[in-house]
Amino acid sequence: MSASKNGTPPPATSHTVVYNQKNLSIRIGMRDGVTGEFKLVPREQAVVSVFDSNFLVGDGIWEGIRAVRGRVQFARDHINRLFQSAKAMYMELGLTKGQLLGLIHQTLDANDMADEPHVHIRLVVSRGLKSTPYQNPHVNIGLPLIVIIPEIKAVDTAAKARGLKLGTTWVRRGPPDVKDEAWNHISKATDVQACISANMMGVDEALMLDLRGFVKTCNSVNFFIVRNGCEVWAPTKDNQMQGITRQKTIDVCRAAGLTVRELDFTLTEVYGADEAFCTGTFPSQLHVTNVDGRVIGDGKRGRVTEFIQKLYAEEVERDTGRTRDEIIAEVEAPRDMSRLEALLAKAGTSDETN
Ligand SMILES: Cc1ncc(COP(=O)(O)O)c(C=O)c1O
Repeated sequence: MSASKNGTPPPATSHTVVYNQKNLSIRIGMRDGVTGEFKLVPREQAVVSVFDSNFLVGDGIWEGIRAVRGRVQFARDHINRLFQSAKAMYMELGLTKGQLLGLIHQTLDANDMADEPHVHIRLVVSRGLKSTPYQNPHVNIGLPLIVIIPEIKAVDTAAKARGLKLGTTWVRRGPPDVKDEAWNHISKATDVQACISANMMGVDEALMLDLRGFVKTCNSVNFFIVRNGCEVWAPTKDNQMQGITRQKTIDVCRAAGLTVRELDFTLTEVYGADEAFCTGTFPSQLHVTNVDGRVIGDGKRGRVTEFIQKLYAEEVERDTGRTRDEIIAEVEAPRDMSRLEALLAKAGTSDETN
């Protein structure tokens, strides 16, 4: 059954899910920042204070994560991104990366999700409780609130097969000295405004430009084109969310021998592309059929996109095929200096000599 309630097929949005009744009775993981207590709370009782920072001033950070049969997909990348966002926002989480992953595991287990292949987790960190409605973190009490919402969300295969129609929006992606996209900040006003503009245009996603007019990203997924036969073009990583799927897509392409160029390009080059696709943790790669009324390629999923989907699925399989202990060890591992050590060894020298 699809997410649509009125019997008509749902629009082929980037996030069309297969409805799952079990989501009505999930338990939410909540770490109270004041008491430090972690609880698994039934969905309808999982509420936050009106004095919460996210609620009052949109002061929080988040991650959208997949879990496959109880294993958190690309756990190290998500947890590192969250901790980097927390540091930038001057937010002390009060736990280690391994402990945070442990809370996610507790939440999955409390929901009996060990066999579920399609869990999607929204991890939200609010700066926490405030003594009064005011933006300054000085009025905050205790540590941040951590909320872990796990739902069973399989991608609607019919929507995925249809592909996406994009329309260019007037809402631009700003530079990092306005609102750094690397913050993964909870305030998604820019994305929501672009999403509304996509709704108004009657398309699935809004295509967004930077302030110089180069193509950057969409309102909830990153964007790629394929040109010159099999060359994969990604907009440079500034002015767009630092998508984990975007990076993994680039990595698997390069590892497989495909040329990937990260560069500035224009709408004209998009309209004339052989293929285009979007990426995100929820949908993985989704082909684009149409941009601003122009059919992309032959309007169907292209062969390069199909190949990349296969490469990425294999990478997900490899990553989530590991044991939890292996994944925790990777998340907790110190900085990897093996490359430097190998180079020093090859040069017949060591750190101490310098
Ligand atoms: C605006 C935006 N761009 C891109 C993405 C994709 O990022 P990721 O691949 O890390 O899921 C998201 C994810 O929700 C997003 O909100």
